[in-house]
Amino acid sequence: MTTEILRDTPKDINRAGEILRSGGLVALPTETVYGLAANALDPRAVKSIYTAKGRPSDNPLIVHISNVDQWRPLVQDLPAQALALAEAFWPGPLTVILKKSDIIPLETSGGLNTIGVRCPANSMARAVIDAAGVPLAAPSANISGRPSPTGFTDTLSHLNGRVDAVLDGGDCAVGVESTVISLAGDAPRILRPGGVTAEDLRRVLGQVDIDPAVTAMLEPGAKPMSPGMKYKHYAPKAQVIMVDGSPEEFAERVNTWVEERPELAGQTAALCFDETAALLRAQAVTYGSRYNQEMQARQLFSALHRLDERGVSQVFAQRPSPRGVGLAVYNRLLRAAAFQVEYPDAPPIIGLSGPSGAGKSTAAALLQQRGFGLVDCDQLTRSPQVYDEACVEKLRQAFGDQVAPQGVLDRRALAAQAFSSPEGVALLESITFPPIEAAVRREVEALRDQGKPVLLDAPTLFEAGLDSLCRRLLVVTAPEPLRLARIIERDGLREEEAVRRFRAQKTGDFYESHGDWIIENAPGQDLESQVETISQEIFREWKGR
Ligand code: TXA
Ligand code: MG
Repeated sequence: MTTEILRDTPKDINRAGEILRSGGLVALPTETVYGLAANALDPRAVKSIYTAKGRPSDNPLIVHISNVDQWRPLVQDLPAQALALAEAFWPGPLTVILKKSDIIPLETSGGLNTIGVRCPANSMARAVIDAAGVPLAAPSANISGRPSPTGFTDTLSHLNGRVDAVLDGGDCAVGVESTVISLAGDAPRILRPGGVTAEDLRRVLGQVDIDPAVTAMLEPGAKPMSPGMKYKHYAPKAQVIMVDGSPEEFAERVNTWVEERPELAGQTAALCFDETAALLRAQAVTYGSRYNQEMQARQLFSALHRLDERGVSQVFAQRPSPRGVGLAVYNRLLRAAAFQVEYPDAPPIIGLSGPSGAGKSTAAALLQQRGFGLVDCDQLTRSPQVYDEACVEKLRQAFGDQVAPQGVLDRRALAAQAFSSPEGVALLESITFPPIEAAVRREVEALRDQGKPVLLDAPTLFEAGLDSLCRRLLVVTAPEPLRLARIIERDGLREEEAVRRFRAQKTGDFYESHGDWIIENAPGQDLESQVETISQEIFREWKGR
């Protein structure tokens, strides 16, 4: 069949509606991924979706509507929780599962007595639903088992010749599929993580369970709540292995592999974060910053398609942090890797950071009691042994002889010179960071040799690039007024001085987006139990369970 290419014009949207009304198939953009749409109420049209995708017929489809009012006829009833979710997240990347009404054919629900419904945020998608005048069943527009397409060209590569039309709507804003939540069981349960996070849902519903199949492989023979969460999925043609570890550990794993097998270098690629690419001596496809889960979500599927184009047979994928939207990224990549994950044997290095006055030292002390070794960068910075002769000489040349009379560093004089301007600070750091980093690495390795996980306490962890050593990042925060009061008290500062120090630092938001775990050290928050939970998780993840 010839596939028509349609664009975002009233004429083409009407044409798409016409094709759908008469039982045809149209691939269209949504804010999550491209979907392959048919009239959800027409069993024959829906069957042809399964054929075009090569999809098993027991895998239920999601029904797309353009307006909440279209929901009622599709389900047996609409509980208050469902309406609250629609109010909070529609139009948007959330699918809500309820008991289906009789107008939904079993072909659409994959034989189940429930139906997932969502109202997409993409305006072209809603315009097509309106033009068709019927609700649209639309799975992701990929050939079954392969990565979902998030752009027009990738969609066409899957479906050209297999469907009546493909609509060009540019790139998808979210990049991973909608969150699927079931309200058909005892308690609300996330069956598939997506663009709306578990935290978002809990703010509306209170208790929300996460189905175990989201992050773990099911026992053999177990029946998944969501048939689509089966064993391998979203996979490029290459074998994918997810590799846990710091950026340096990840790079070490990949570099060693290709250096030991030079004949396979052309067939091997890393799928990694933007920051990690520079550490690799192998070809790499990046999928966003380590610290930007939204960007990772937007780029993941496109990155998997790019790996296919390179024709590689082995992919090492850097493990994403399963925080927020990252849980969806982690879930998809885990399936692309058919649950193959490697964990380094060496004890983890955990970066500890956060704004002044949040209580990093208190948290660090609690972790030391739990078997962590501590490397305190502030203390190292103040320790004269760190600055060797060559470094002291460079400081004299940069800031004048008075910073090191008789070759002995005078930290006060140095501070007076260096901290007077931003250029001074930059110059100081360019001279002192390398020896500090060398000292940090020595201390870290000494503790790991004793078999201890290491806590790397560095207020400027990110500025100094020490985060590339860290397998995980732990951020301690507290509300700003509280932190202000603490540092005024602790360091004997006047309020203006404390405020000035804060302005020179990264913001609380920066730190929060950079942590695998965030400890809230505020009154009413039990610090010790937060530390205990995180400590257990660190040990568990180190052992790869
Ligand atoms: O973002 C999305 O949801 C995209 C766009 C096109 O809207 N659609 C999508 O559909 O991802 P699909 O068919 O590729 O994935 C639907 C997932 C499957 O894992 C399926 O098993 C699950 O949702 N699902 C659908 N209806 C269900 C139901 N009644 N009970 C349990 N799981 C259901
Ligand atoms: Mg799919």
